[in-house]
Amino acid sequence: MAAEWIKDTARPPPLLKASMAEIIDGRAIARKLDEQTKAQVTELIASGHNTPGLSVILVGQDPASEIYVRRKIEACERVGIISSEHRLPDTTTQDALLTLIARLNADPEIHGILCQVPLPEHIDSRLVLGSIAPGKDVDGFHPVNVGRLSTGTGGIVPCTPLGIMMLITSVIDDLTGKDVVVIGKSNIVGKPVANLLLDAEATVTVTHIHTHGLAEICRQADVIVAAAGAPELVRGHWVKDGAVLIDVGITRIEGENGKTRLVGDIAYDEVQHARAVTPVPGGVGPMTIACLLSNTVKAARAAAGLSQGNGSDYADLPSRNIFTGSGSIPN
Ligand code: GUN
Repeated sequence: MAAEWIKDTARPPPLLKASMAEIIDGRAIARKLDEQTKAQVTELIASGHNTPGLSVILVGQDPASEIYVRRKIEACERVGIISSEHRLPDTTTQDALLTLIARLNADPEIHGILCQVPLPEHIDSRLVLGSIAPGKDVDGFHPVNVGRLSTGTGGIVPCTPLGIMMLITSVIDDLTGKDVVVIGKSNIVGKPVANLLLDAEATVTVTHIHTHGLAEICRQADVIVAAAGAPELVRGHWVKDGAVLIDVGITRIEGENGKTRLVGDIAYDEVQHARAVTPVPGGVGPMTIACLLSNTVKAARAAAGLSQGNGSDYADLPSRNIFTGSGSIPN
């Protein structure tokens, strides 16, 4: 049987702090990033370059993936990116998918390619994601981009971790020496965000389903990034006064009166003694899509020879520039 997160059912002690935690408004920060992305699209077109283009591939009919893909396509329109959607049946062969990606890799009007995961079981996801040209890999999942991130040498950074860093740095100017706990070690969130935090000079502890004493580890943290996919795992008494909390989880659970409600990995009502917390929804989610658009324009600028991909593009955001690498976006 798969391992499960151990739920802490202890009653939280009464809150001592009368004031409420600041809400980190992911929607507002995402809007600000979108404005910047839109301005860059306008600038690219005005200087005679191709309009940035993003191709999104969806294989099969996973309902959650359908929603994510629709939101990504709609978001492109908001900032002026041309999107193309490739919806393929779940009987699509791996070879057919690789052929499509090879065609998109060679198309100069396509600057970003995103293949939504999970893919059907008969398709080798690693092979497929690794076949996307690293310079068009706007998800940042290609081994070249993963390697660049882990060595702090630029490349394209995965969208959710990039968004998380913007949210954290909207409330903390300098992460040097801060104790950060990342809950969850996924390739999409936990591992890349840990690398970004290390680059920002934080002391990072990555925990997972087999970690002993998670509550005690969290109680030491200045920042907690909860990406476990376990609803309300982090309880109020796991959080020290003044901590900053980033909630990546989003799960629909049974509420009162037979209604359902969305919750994150953090028991939101119990953490008002924190300094700041992201809401669910409206925290990390909007940032992921805004960062996808931004990565696409970054890739288009690099293709046009306008950007080294070293993050100077983020200077105007209400957060610190978190691209510390000096390398360029790879081809
Ligand atoms: N499935 C869930 N999240 C993501 C994502 O960020 N990118 C892709 N390609 N697939 C996903």
